[in-house]
Amino acid sequence: MTLLEWMLVTTYLWVKAAHLIFVIFWIAGLFMLPRFYIYQQPTAPGSPEDRQWIERSARLRSIILTPAMIAVWVLGLSLIWINQLNGIPILKEGWLHAKLLIVFALTGYHGWAVAYGKRMARGYRPARDRTLRLMNEVPGIATAVIVILVIVKPF
Ligand code: HEM
Repeated sequence: MTLLEWMLVTTYLWVKAAHLIFVIFWIAGLFMLPRFYIYQQPTAPGSPEDRQWIERSARLRSIILTPAMIAVWVLGLSLIWINQLNGIPILKEGWLHAKLLIVFALTGYHGWAVAYGKRMARGYRPARDRTLRLMNEVPGIATAVIVILVIVKPF
């Protein structure tokens, strides 16, 4: 193995570790946010309890969710780039196409959840409790499918 190859492989493993660390932060945040909304939903808009939930969700978004999502994207795209540098045509893999599709959907879900919280902060309660509970299942299902795609690589 040449020094350059060794450096690329070592970098790859560190970037992959960092990718997974931020994946865990991102998904943990996505699990928590709609749960916060379920607790906030029955509070009277403007009440002290409502204001506390607004503050908690805003902090979760700015400290964990958004930075983690950006880090997952940057590190994930770097993994693709290092593979290409190594001469591995990873962009031709079917499992990666499927994964990217789901990750785009998850990013859309993230946007929906953030927008929903901002509407709640303005006193609206547009979704029913049941809808929020159903939405809460999305990150779990997405994580299960993505992990199977990247580990089993079924196609
Ligand atoms: C945001 C866009 C993302 C991109 C561009 C991306 C890209 C990648 C790439 C290229 C790899 C290396 C695959 C390999 O070496 O075989 C990887 C590894 C991995 N990714 Fe992502 N990823 C993203 C998001 C996610 C998300 C959201 C999850 C989980 C919910 C995830 C879970 C994993 C896992 C578990 C691995 C390790 C696979 C292994 O070691 O074989 N990724 N990712």
